[in-house]
Amino acid sequence: MTKQNPIVLIGFMGVGKTSVGTFLAKKTKVNFCDTDKMITRMEKATPGEIFATKGEAYFRRQETHILEQALKHPGIISTGGGIVEVKRNISLLRKSQATIVYIYGDLPHIMKRLLRNQRRPLVEKSTTREFYQLWERRDQMYRSIADVVVDSTNKRNNIVAAEVKLGV
Ligand code: S3P
Repeated sequence: MTKQNPIVLIGFMGVGKTSVGTFLAKKTKVNFCDTDKMITRMEKATPGEIFATKGEAYFRRQETHILEQALKHPGIISTGGGIVEVKRNISLLRKSQATIVYIYGDLPHIMKRLLRNQRRPLVEKSTTREFYQLWERRDQMYRSIADVVVDSTNKRNNIVAAEVKLGV
């Protein structure tokens, strides 16, 4: 693991990107940036609230802006699950020197975590079938840009973090 280039964690909501990124950044003493948390700080509102008041497109623009800035610095960047929904984000990630790590989680594992955690706007407005289709479609997209894939299914965050560290 070098300290020169950023490491970007991508993956579906609820997979544990923030926890794994926080853990890893502390262990390796590098900077940590969480795009959702940055947006929340800037807007003084959660992603769910921003979706509801200003719309998803607005949220996505903020997300792209933060990603672009974060990629200029070394450290670990944790992204929102929808980062692959915007073409510009994909090209920013592909063009960057960052190592892109896909934190994979199978759907039952993700559902279990989402039910424990705070609510996400896309969970609330989707049927089970739509949610499965979203997971399946994004799984392909994450894989298409990832340099490394780490399976987080039924693993604790510190184990996933150790596997990320070994993989990059
Ligand atoms: C989203 C995932 C969320 C957050 C927003 C949209 C998505 O982040 O960015 O609610 O489209 O999957 P997490 O992946 O951290 O849940």
